[in-house]
Amino acid sequence: MQSPQVDAELLLAHVLGIGRTALITVSDVPDDAAARFTAFVAERAARVPLQHLTGRAPFRHLELAVGPGVFVPRPETEQLAGWALGRLAGLGEPVVVDLGSGSGALALAIAQEHPGARVTAVERDPGAIGWTRTNAAARAAAGDTPVTVVRGDMTDRWLLTELEGGVDVVVSNPPYVPDGAGLPREVAEHDPPLALWGGPDGLDVVRGLLDTAARLLRPGGRLGIEHADQQGRAVPALVRSHGPWTEVEDHPDLAGRPRYTTARLG
Ligand SMILES: C[S@@+](CC[C@H](N)C(=O)[O-])C[C@H]1O[C@@H](n2cnc3c(N)ncnc32)[C@H](O)[C@@H]1O
Repeated sequence: MQSPQVDAELLLAHVLGIGRTALITVSDVPDDAAARFTAFVAERAARVPLQHLTGRAPFRHLELAVGPGVFVPRPETEQLAGWALGRLAGLGEPVVVDLGSGSGALALAIAQEHPGARVTAVERDPGAIGWTRTNAAARAAAGDTPVTVVRGDMTDRWLLTELEGGVDVVVSNPPYVPDGAGLPREVAEHDPPLALWGGPDGLDVVRGLLDTAARLLRPGGRLGIEHADQQGRAVPALVRSHGPWTEVEDHPDLAGRPRYTTARLG
């Protein structure tokens, strides 16, 4: 959804180094800040994502560093983190794996909100994993439970063999856009291709991660996978047909659109 006024306000607040709500107290903008603001507005008008201009993206209680090379975390993914945290409630030191971690959004939110959790973030893209590591280091320095960052392919049979059968929750927001689908310029030109494209039906990586999740989870462990709003039937059907999964359910986002599928191993 386009929000030019909000974007302009956020950019002005960014160049002034204040929060958006404090703009109401601003009566004068210095020339250098006005020039930076004008340049940012021109970039935003050319469809550079707002978050690339500010260098920050909010996610639950976090503010993550983002920029070229990494997927900008989306608000709808916050619910998948909330679902995972609900499954961890009451577990002292649960083991969690985030497959395709990008900025680290899911992994770092879970580590922050369930401090006992031992979280591993997996990322394949060499351009993105620098951002995963930067954000993980920043959160650890701020006092959150450290997250282990691993470069790897979530479809690899040999990924994280040391965790096999011992993971409580696997979460993933994998690439799921069908090849050739039309996307807004902000997405098509600025989110990394590896974060977006999922083969002819968008589900190639999902198919691969199901085997990995089944191998990593303990019996009764839980899997949560984000998907496109058009995949609310296809992903649950794929999970049901693809191994020892039970309690397969699909969940809507806050706008009521199908957004993520969850399942129990065994
Ligand atoms: C849609 S982005 C999600 C990033 C982050 N989890 C979030 O929710 O904001 C998908 C991420 O998966 C990574 N990825 C794609 N294929 C992968 C694979 N086979 N193994 C590991 N990571 C992969 C991409 O590089 C990208 O960072």
